[in-house]
Amino acid sequence: MSTYFQLPMDLANLPLDDIRAQALQCRRCHLCETRTQVVFGQGPVPCDIMLIGEGPGADEDAQGIPFVGRAGQLLTKILESVDIKRPTDIYIANTVKCRPPENRTPFPSEIEACADWLAAQIMHIQPRILLLAGTPALKSVLGDQLGPHDTITKVRGRWFKLTVPYMQEQLYVMPIFHPSYLLRNASRDVGSPKWQTWQDMKEVQGALNFIRKAKVEA
Ligand code: URA
Ligand code: URA
Repeated sequence: MSTYFQLPMDLANLPLDDIRAQALQCRRCHLCETRTQVVFGQGPVPCDIMLIGEGPGADEDAQGIPFVGRAGQLLTKILESVDIKRPTDIYIANTVKCRPPENRTPFPSEIEACADWLAAQIMHIQPRILLLAGTPALKSVLGDQLGPHDTITKVRGRWFKLTVPYMQEQLYVMPIFHPSYLLRNASRDVGSPKWQTWQDMKEVQGALNFIRKAKVEA
């Protein structure tokens, strides 16, 4: 799978708004035939923290904004619980920009066809912290570094550090459970996926505060 940490050649000198305009017309894979609209992304550019989900669902396909349905509302609450407000504090995008029929998992070929758009987003947003929500985002971004047993359940909450071209510091990447998975696993008991996500988000908050403080002092 192509790297997400270099601007695709044909997009290299374009502002993100122009890239977005191209993406909105995209016909690189079959998902264009069933989508209502392309769901590009939402948030400030650049931005200290970025989240990558899986792909649009019905509500996102209708509204053109990522994570606005039931999973999105839960995500918004999870982020707010650690003082990350949408849309001002975080940029949110998906691994694929068009809704897969019946909300099936996107095929590797669709993720590959969409990779340039996500790469362009990452390179313009230049996040310091990158959250990967669910398996497609995890595999797409960290695939090379994962062993065969490194499922989301195993690696969520773990910081991965990546060398990236847009800053000297390493990029902090954390896989987290997808909010749709949390909707299906409602328990908040100690050790449950929701409880684990709460621990993960406190880690993220700590890292974000550290970055913000370093910026103020610089
Ligand atoms: N699930 C996702 O992965 N992304 C969205 O935008 C909405 C639901
Ligand atoms: N399994 C998945 O596919 N995704 C999650 O987020 C958690 C478990």
